[in-house]
Amino acid sequence: MPNLMFIDGDEGLCLDVCGYFRSAGMQIQYSCDVASACDVIAKDRFDLVITDVTIPGGTVRNIIDAVQRVEPPPAILVVSEVGTVDEAVRAVKRGAFGIVQKPFNIPELMFETKRALDRRTSEIRELGPPPFENVYQPTSFIGECPQIKRVFEIVSRVAKTRSSVIITGETGTGKELIAGSIHYNSDRSEGPFVRVNCAALPETLLESELFGYERGAFTGAERTRVGRFEQADGGTIFLDEVADMSLYTQAKVLRVLQEREFERVGGNDTVRTDVRIISATNKDLLDLMEDELFREDLYYRLNVVNIHLPPLRERGNDIRLLVEFFIRKYSVAVHRRIRSMHRDAVEMLMKYHWPGNIRELENTIERAVIMTEGDMITPNELELIFAKRPTPETSDVTLTPSGVRLEEVEKKLVLEALEMTNWVQKDAAALLNVSGRVLNYKIKRFGITHSTWRQNR
Ligand SMILES: Nc1ncnc2c1ncn2[C@@H]1O[C@H](COP(=O)(O)OP(=O)(O)OP(=O)(O)O)[C@@H](O)[C@H]1O
Ligand SMILES: [Mg+2]
Repeated sequence: MPNLMFIDGDEGLCLDVCGYFRSAGMQIQYSCDVASACDVIAKDRFDLVITDVTIPGGTVRNIIDAVQRVEPPPAILVVSEVGTVDEAVRAVKRGAFGIVQKPFNIPELMFETKRALDRRTSEIRELGPPPFENVYQPTSFIGECPQIKRVFEIVSRVAKTRSSVIITGETGTGKELIAGSIHYNSDRSEGPFVRVNCAALPETLLESELFGYERGAFTGAERTRVGRFEQADGGTIFLDEVADMSLYTQAKVLRVLQEREFERVGGNDTVRTDVRIISATNKDLLDLMEDELFREDLYYRLNVVNIHLPPLRERGNDIRLLVEFFIRKYSVAVHRRIRSMHRDAVEMLMKYHWPGNIRELENTIERAVIMTEGDMITPNELELIFAKRPTPETSDVTLTPSGVRLEEVEKKLVLEALEMTNWVQKDAAALLNVSGRVLNYKIKRFGITHSTWRQNR
């Protein structure tokens, strides 16, 4: 279990963060001042230290010094506010893993934490600590198939430019990872990389999340809040699930792209910002434009460069590479000495259609590693994992208080039907009780492709 330390002058925040992390099964303690933090760091063994830039009694520099006296040193994640970005960037140059912008939501912090922990695990294993210039290298992106090589080519070509990039592909294909690679290989890599999930927030909240608001803009707006576009100044903003923005918000984003300026919600002052926009979606924006749900002018602005990530089932031998990579990653994480996977087990994975793509493969390997007693994963473990899974992915939907995405459910069912019928659309349509035309429409809408089909557009 990773052991974490959270350092921030605000004890309420510390308690919130620790509560959340503990409920996710992590070990974490906190400290509200430099002296006690340095004490604990010297005594206990931490994998990761998350620290604010300014802490009562000192700054992040004191923390870095304390961390670097420990062997092996824990990784450091720096939390910065608008006014302290420069200091945070200096911290990263001195070896911190990355920056999280305040205000953050805790799941976002968790996401960055996991990423930092992953990185540290693989570094300790493979290289020892990296030279500092390497800190910004993206997490290794595994893949050698021709489609992925083409993706790498585009990434290295566009990284150095300021062009907007849109990344498309099914769920779990690595869109976010690619967005990060572009940023961290660009000349903005020392600026912030700010991610916004446009599907996670209702329209009005998304607007103030993106653009911030002025004090008194609405009930509850007690102080001015800086939005994500402002936070991303000098860096990159990643608009995830961009198709879910309302037309109104789309218009505001368009203006940022065209004029690099906007107003905060409820404000009159024009704010200027210099950001690069990377967006991602697993929906078909052409269809949405046809239905007038997505602005055409915005589409062309966002889509200067398009990177399409192929579904895992079309990546052939990459499945093997990813399997090896995840076996290594998780056997380190759970302290097992698993070396390989039995040939028949690999065959099983090569045949499966992976509706959840790499994320699903990663989860599968993680579970297999935990279940395997010996040093090799066999078909037995995989069979148990697949048997527990309600027929490929979830077809029995549970409605939770936070709701489900009807489209996602529909997409899963479509994929499942196609899988069961060997990707013969006519048969799948019969199984779903819809006409061939309706199914074909949905296939296009969800961007589903398969190597046995001719290009479906
Ligand atoms: N080529 C790769 N090599 C190693 N890990 C990968 C690769 N591609 C994806 N992953 C891992 O798979 C998981 C899913 O990737 P990511 O979150 O980038 O997908 P996504 O396309 O953004 O998914 P969604 O559409 O659901 O948001 C992550 O844990 C990521 O680290
Ligand atoms: Mg994503």
